[in-house]
Amino acid sequence: METPPFLAACRRQPAPYTPVWLMRQAGRYLPEYRAIREKTGFLELCRTPDLAAQVTVDTAVRLRVDAAIIFADILLVLDPMGAGLEFARGDGPTIRHPVRTAADVDRLRDPEPGALEYVAEAVRRARGALPPAIPLIGFAGAPFTLASYLIEGGGSRLYARTKAFIATDPGAWRALMQKLARAVTAYLDAQVEAGADAVQLFDSWVGCLSPDDYRTHVLPHVRAVVGSVRRGTPVIHFGTGTAGLLEGMRAAGGDVIGLDWRVDLDAAWSRLGHDVAVQGNLDPVALLAPVAEIRRRAAAILGQAAGRPGHIFNLGHGVLPQTPVDHVHALVDAVHELSAR
Ligand code: CP3
Repeated sequence: METPPFLAACRRQPAPYTPVWLMRQAGRYLPEYRAIREKTGFLELCRTPDLAAQVTVDTAVRLRVDAAIIFADILLVLDPMGAGLEFARGDGPTIRHPVRTAADVDRLRDPEPGALEYVAEAVRRARGALPPAIPLIGFAGAPFTLASYLIEGGGSRLYARTKAFIATDPGAWRALMQKLARAVTAYLDAQVEAGADAVQLFDSWVGCLSPDDYRTHVLPHVRAVVGSVRRGTPVIHFGTGTAGLLEGMRAAGGDVIGLDWRVDLDAAWSRLGHDVAVQGNLDPVALLAPVAEIRRRAAAILGQAAGRPGHIFNLGHGVLPQTPVDHVHALVDAVHELSAR
């Protein structure tokens, strides 16, 4: 069988068209997802392999995207570490036992082997149900972004507590990052073992850091995680607000670097070097615009990629809940049509 376009692009091989998938492609903008969520809590959905696999597969097939991403969450790994993870209705995530001191870091456990077996099982079922031409992406949060949730106790605007922790107790920070890197490594390994064809590391909030803090306090730990992924499994390394960190992210590793819309794709790709693939980078808000404008913006991004092998089309961040479903379909069709070679 031909290499699926998504995997070809991860390896910077030519593909018949530019592959496209969307972060948060299975989410609240979809009426089918909202219907499932009427009956099932978010964590319960993640912890029910049958349902998680069904959401993963149905979404990818319905959207005609070139990759599926396993339905799960980056924060799941924190629960078996003892952090106490909660998703209250309508709110973001909450960490019941935030990490504020070196003693809190010591109290965090390595997850028991098998604690996240339900994600591995969802990967197995989704891989079994997907058409062979649609690769399945496994994923995890990167150590910094996970640490930010642990320390802030949830989402944050400034990451002041996280940055103060780094500056105040770099030794405890290092111990925390090493613990998280170990847990993430085991978690990704289990997903690859279960059949994930590629993995994405989400360092969603790392863009709040200075380049120097990134290099000193984050890069070595990302490098450890990326280096531990089984050879031959492509790694996508994603962050937002990373215009100042691209060289650092490249040095940390990944076969594909995820870009958000705050950078020009062509300029960012030149900075990274064309010996790495890129993913991105349409502003998710563009999907609220009329279809003609969506097509125009998709064409502009494809123009910047200039048909070079190694571009995966995606948004610069996740699909917003208020996005019209037909606009998502229009984007996927536009990318396929406009990039056909
Ligand atoms: O379709 C997919 O992309 C696969 C599933 C997926 C989810 N979360 C499901 C989800 C993925 C890849 C994630 C990653 C994730 N989770 C990230 C990294 C990507 C990013 O957005 O930066 C982060 C930071 C999280 C943490 C998280 N999970 C937050 C902050 C929230 C609340 C905000 C929100 O959008 O509700 C979640 C909840 C969440 N994760 C939902 C989904 C579908 C919505 C939950 C619901 O049904 O109410």
